[in-house]
Amino acid sequence: MNRIVVQSGGPLRGRIGVPGDKSISHRALILGAIAEGTSRVENFLPAADCRATLRAVRALGIEVKEQSPTALIVHGRGLHGLREPDDVLDCVRSGTTLRFLAGLLAGQPFFSVLGGAAQLRRRPMGRIVEPLRRMGATILGRQGGRLPPLAIRGGGLRALDYTLPVASAQVKSALLLAGLYADGPTTLRVPGPARDHTERMLVAMGAHLDGEIWNLEIKPAERLEPLDVTVPGDFSSAAFPLVAAVLVAGSEVVIEGVGVNPTRTGLLDVLRAMGADPAVENERLVGGEQVADLVVRASALRGTTVGGETVVRMIDEFPLLAVAATQAQGETIVRDAAELRVKETDRIAVVVAELRRLGAEIEARPDGFVVHGPTPLRGATVHSHGDHRLAMALTVAGLLAQGETVVQDVDCIADSFPGFVRTLQVVGAGVSHHGHRERSG
Ligand code: S3P
Repeated sequence: MNRIVVQSGGPLRGRIGVPGDKSISHRALILGAIAEGTSRVENFLPAADCRATLRAVRALGIEVKEQSPTALIVHGRGLHGLREPDDVLDCVRSGTTLRFLAGLLAGQPFFSVLGGAAQLRRRPMGRIVEPLRRMGATILGRQGGRLPPLAIRGGGLRALDYTLPVASAQVKSALLLAGLYADGPTTLRVPGPARDHTERMLVAMGAHLDGEIWNLEIKPAERLEPLDVTVPGDFSSAAFPLVAAVLVAGSEVVIEGVGVNPTRTGLLDVLRAMGADPAVENERLVGGEQVADLVVRASALRGTTVGGETVVRMIDEFPLLAVAATQAQGETIVRDAAELRVKETDRIAVVVAELRRLGAEIEARPDGFVVHGPTPLRGATVHSHGDHRLAMALTVAGLLAQGETVVQDVDCIADSFPGFVRTLQVVGAGVSHHGHRERSG
């Protein structure tokens, strides 16, 4: 089976970059498709999740030229230029693809079906289906529309005034996309600071969008201007070498060109509360998003409590936080994070099970976990459960463990971070990939 073999070793040192942001890459493609004219996307993330969005956009009749795997030209056909796809749109393992497209397709006067791999077919869709039905879309799915595949007959949408039950950027974005096609202003109240990349892009394209983050109102659009986007490095990918450098004694790593939109950087606040000192340098604005270089050195950590809004601003970083907490003095408590149970895997259950194999003292709670540190980790064979972020977090744990750690089933890393192993090797980590070649999606 494909696997990463990890040896603990000396300090990590050097300057690296990480691939483009996954969230922004999806949005650039989908919004570019309904813009009036040609959009350019530089530093697109050529990972499996975003390639699923690329194929779907093409199946909706949009021409996308790949000048290179990371440079795309999207020939948008305007808000009403999509065509009925002639087959099921396969979102593979990408929840962002499926939920965004459901919102977009709810606004289209044609039939479409959204499907995906087994992992995606277990993820909850009621959170988008229910409000989209209220807007007037006809949506059928397994278990009354709670699970994919979803079959959609869209068009003729009514405006909606809605309080989201979860602070989810995917739900918010799906409803903003549908709102572009409604018969009046759609109002959304979001119970947390979910990432706002969609809003930033829509405003740049001339959409009538008021409010920010928690309270939004979108008016139906007549046209959207095309985009010229340079996608920043993905903070959620940078987080892996960043935490590795905090944990491996003597390390100093610079990660260049990383998106530091405050709705994404909760992990930096938590690491600071734990005693680390990650520096955000050379901050600049690139295409409406903050970008910076992250400078990080090894530090001793102490336990902390994470809950509330911070959870939303670091929702993808909890497997990694659990690894860091194993090395912190005292107790680290994560609460208000029940959303973790419906990510690519039940991330509370799998993180607890796999880190225990390495000797961590960690317990699951219904809405989070508790880690008692510090504990010396010992090398073992662990499993990704097909979850890219778990695979990478376990690789970082392996850098701290005595002896050899084998992380099994790591092809999923290509869902978000092609070149993960090579990036760690550049800073001197003892990691090697076996089995299939590291794919770029
Ligand atoms: C994403 C939003 C988050 C995040 C996912 C990407 C996005 O999901 O976990 O990796 O691009 O909008 P939720 O909106 O379900 O929290």
